[in-house]
Amino acid sequence: MIKQFTVITLFPEFISDYMKIGVVGSAVDKGIIKLNLIDLREFSTDRNGRVDDSSYGGGPGMVFSVEPVRAAIKKAKTDSNMHSHVMYMSPQGGRFDQSAVKDLRDLDHIIILAGRYEGIDQRLIDQDVDSEWSIGDYVLSGGELPSLVVIDAIARTMPGVLGSDESAKNDSFADGLLDFSHYTRPAVIDDERVPEILISGNHGAIARWRRKNALGRTYVGRPDLLSDKFLSYDDRELLKEYLQENGLL
Ligand SMILES: C[S@@+](CC[C@H](N)C(=O)[O-])C[C@H]1O[C@@H](n2cnc3c(N)ncnc32)[C@H](O)[C@@H]1O
Repeated sequence: MIKQFTVITLFPEFISDYMKIGVVGSAVDKGIIKLNLIDLREFSTDRNGRVDDSSYGGGPGMVFSVEPVRAAIKKAKTDSNMHSHVMYMSPQGGRFDQSAVKDLRDLDHIIILAGRYEGIDQRLIDQDVDSEWSIGDYVLSGGELPSLVVIDAIARTMPGVLGSDESAKNDSFADGLLDFSHYTRPAVIDDERVPEILISGNHGAIARWRRKNALGRTYVGRPDLLSDKFLSYDDRELLKEYLQENGLL
């Protein structure tokens, strides 16, 4: 089934340029995802094309007004025959992580609202937005980069988007671990050697090495990921082995 994304933004070209390249570009070309862009400016009710106004109570910074954003959302919904979910990208939203990707990837049509300035009128968040998402605890100047983050992260989990569906299964966070280390030719550079097992052709031994490496790297780099993850007896033994081999135990 095609997944539709509509981005409501003041800078549609920012989104369209990125959507032409790489994995996401080929997902669009293959018809696995469909992208609609809505230029918020077209919904201005002001003859100067303004879509924002000052914040009640005073202070610097402008706020997206209710009317143009609401009209743009209505247009996005009526242009699609699918069930729509409206997301607002915001530093105040829930954390957009791989488990959010898993939840959101089953939605048919995702409308993403990219804010600017101080953000959007609270009444839009209360009445028109279904979910609010943050890509991290920092403040960017606009919601375009976050929108692309959402589209890219969801697109690469869709069947047929990556060259091999195995890649996404092994990606960091897919099963709560970081990805294992990757090496490519040449096998030796000066005195730096690729681990022997990886060039042994023994698939069982390679899978075991990769699991051990993923467990060890997660333990060292992101121990928080392991704090509520169930590890089987075999995983615990592999992790112990990794720590011993690396002088960490
Ligand atoms: C300058 S920010 C507004 C920040 C807002 N005044 C605040 O402090 O929460 C402008 C827009 O960028 C987007 N944005 C900025 N940082 C973001 C983040 N970490 N995650 C998602 N969107 C973000 C949002 O769409 C936001 O409306």
